[in-house]
Amino acid sequence: MPLLYDFRSDTQTRPTAGMRAAIAAAEVGDDMTGEDPTVNRLEEMIAEMFGKEAAVFACSGTQSNQMGVRCHCLPGDELLIHETGHIANFEAGGPAVLSGVSCRQLPGEKGFLTLETLAGKIRADNQHLCRTRLLCLENTSNAGGGHAWPLEQLHEVGSWGHEQGLKVHVDGARFFNACVAQGYSPREACEHVDTISICFSKGLGCPMGSILTGSAEDMAHARRSRKLFGGAMRQAGMMAAACVYALEHHIDRLAEDHENARLLAEGIAEIDGLVAEPAAVETNLVFFDVDPELGNAGQLSAALKERGLGINAMGSARLRACTHLDVSREDVEASLVILRDTVAAGFRDMAGSLTGPYARA
Ligand SMILES: Cc1ncc(COP(=O)(O)O)c(C=O)c1O
Repeated sequence: MPLLYDFRSDTQTRPTAGMRAAIAAAEVGDDMTGEDPTVNRLEEMIAEMFGKEAAVFACSGTQSNQMGVRCHCLPGDELLIHETGHIANFEAGGPAVLSGVSCRQLPGEKGFLTLETLAGKIRADNQHLCRTRLLCLENTSNAGGGHAWPLEQLHEVGSWGHEQGLKVHVDGARFFNACVAQGYSPREACEHVDTISICFSKGLGCPMGSILTGSAEDMAHARRSRKLFGGAMRQAGMMAAACVYALEHHIDRLAEDHENARLLAEGIAEIDGLVAEPAAVETNLVFFDVDPELGNAGQLSAALKERGLGINAMGSARLRACTHLDVSREDVEASLVILRDTVAAGFRDMAGSLTGPYARA
């Protein structure tokens, strides 16, 4: 059965009519030689918004994050990151494979790193040790729960990193969700940040595209890495036009996704056998747990799929639902009925992977 309501990810959105019109009308040129006017415009817009000198358009968030890692590190270096960080867990070992960099994964509430956790984690200058070089933060945190960093905490950790001689990179796949939730501007949030990667293909609703922004020197380095990683493009203005359109039309509306996520969490919390924490929902990601007595998350996900509702299992008992441009308040209400009925009917016999897409049993 095709999905009626797709909460698997904000990457599932289809371009709107307005975005498709912008794509069709895009002025283009060869981006690899710097001649695509729309890509150039997008890069300038982002650099200006974030208070940085330059930006480089990339194919994906993985690519722009890995360009960021490579900008700052040499083979043998180490980066510090939260234990749930996307760069360390979900980018196919990119830091090690593409840059020869190891990841030191640290614990912390909400997917955030604190000065307490970071204390003592910078290795001494000693031939036996790898060089601690880069601090990677994720805003919003994805596997950390969809939390948006408060401005003060972001400044505190970023400026601490700089005082320690580290570079600071932010994985901002859902950075505009953080700006909307916390009410800060990209520029003020990135005051103590060297590079930030932003995705257009998630909450902003574009078919593809990410961007890295930072100093002119770092962006020249990143441009070389983009080529090395096979991501330098030609008439990419077709896609950059969608991104410009999203910057102009799809940022403020993220508040609706956050409201829908809260509504969804409130409904889930009322279903016997499911546990959700509505007060913990800050942006567009809703994590909730299923009572193991009833079955596992994979089985619930499979049963929901049979009824046309897409929600991914993220662990043995944990699921994640994500709101976005293509799900309305009415969709949330209809989906809550499906969830309630599915849990009440029992779903243990549904074939679902025991632990979800990312973990081994
Ligand atoms: C926090 C975070 N960073 C980076 C990425 C990678 O983006 P992409 O799928 O475009 O490579 C994702 C993808 O979901 C993500 O959630």
